[in-house]
Amino acid sequence: MKKGRIFSGMRPTGMLHLGNLAGALNNWVRLQEDYDCIFAAVDWHALTTGYQDTSMVREYTRQVLIDFIAAGIDPERSIVIRQSDVKEHAELHLLLSMITPLGWLERCPTYKEQLQQLSGREITTYGFLGYPVLMATDILIYKSDTVPVGEDQLPHLELAREIARRFNYMYSPVFPEPQAKLSKVAVLPGTDGRKMSKSYGNTIQIADPPEKIREAVKSMVTDPARIHKSDPGHPDVCTVFAYHSAFTPEAAEERRGECEGARIGCVACKRQLADTLISVLAPIHERRRQLEATPGLIESILADGAMRARPIAARTLEEVRSAMKI
Ligand code: TRP
Repeated sequence: MKKGRIFSGMRPTGMLHLGNLAGALNNWVRLQEDYDCIFAAVDWHALTTGYQDTSMVREYTRQVLIDFIAAGIDPERSIVIRQSDVKEHAELHLLLSMITPLGWLERCPTYKEQLQQLSGREITTYGFLGYPVLMATDILIYKSDTVPVGEDQLPHLELAREIARRFNYMYSPVFPEPQAKLSKVAVLPGTDGRKMSKSYGNTIQIADPPEKIREAVKSMVTDPARIHKSDPGHPDVCTVFAYHSAFTPEAAEERRGECEGARIGCVACKRQLADTLISVLAPIHERRRQLEATPGLIESILADGAMRARPIAARTLEEVRSAMKI
């Protein structure tokens, strides 16, 4: 017996990076054992901030799906979808938008933050304000009870719960209140030590070839107080150590000891990390090659995913329409 239903998604706004792998995908792969899972490339969500230039949305969607499967998402065991293939999301989004007070959305911390950070883009749109309603829809339409997300998504999950509660109270109890499941892995910094972000150019992509990975690891910032190899290092402020911990947690204490005891220099420590990353990514790259070499494979995985997801979504929608007397 499975523990419950999981839904999670990623926005196809670019190629996935090692933060997505360590922080989410690896976790999703494990969760497939215990839960009924639905994983999505949420392409409508990509439009909320990227509606002006949509030239890459289809290609990034495809690449995100290839990364999902290459990383170990099993499209037979789990349901893998592209959000825009399951039109039921659009109807539920509309209905939920009717009951969601504007104030909830305007007060959402991620909304206020993004408005400031992306001030160069015209994102003062209806669709962008409604981002959390669309995300609540993704989750609620499958009556998901568990949602693996990063900490940055907690305000959205709280809104999903509030929308569910409001619906259940106003009409009749249709939706479970979904719970966040936070990943245990600490958030990976970018190669420059700042927050990992495509716009900072400090990411390492899952699909990056070994040469590129070596280069990126070489450029990583380390403990600024460690100038000579004989200086004891401070792993907790070192980007390289953050990656060691994320990708070889079983050896992290040994790495820490070597660094604090000045038994290894940063150059050698970086070489070791590059070797680790390259060997972690090798099987993923091999599966990526196979997936890319099989024409129509991703399309047929999506067709199958949509075929399995739509009846679940349609059933919920029937309950919703009946509860709302529509
Ligand atoms: N907002 C999520 C993110 O940026 C992506 C997302 C969309 C999502 N719908 C979802 C995550 C539903 C979990 C469940 O990471």
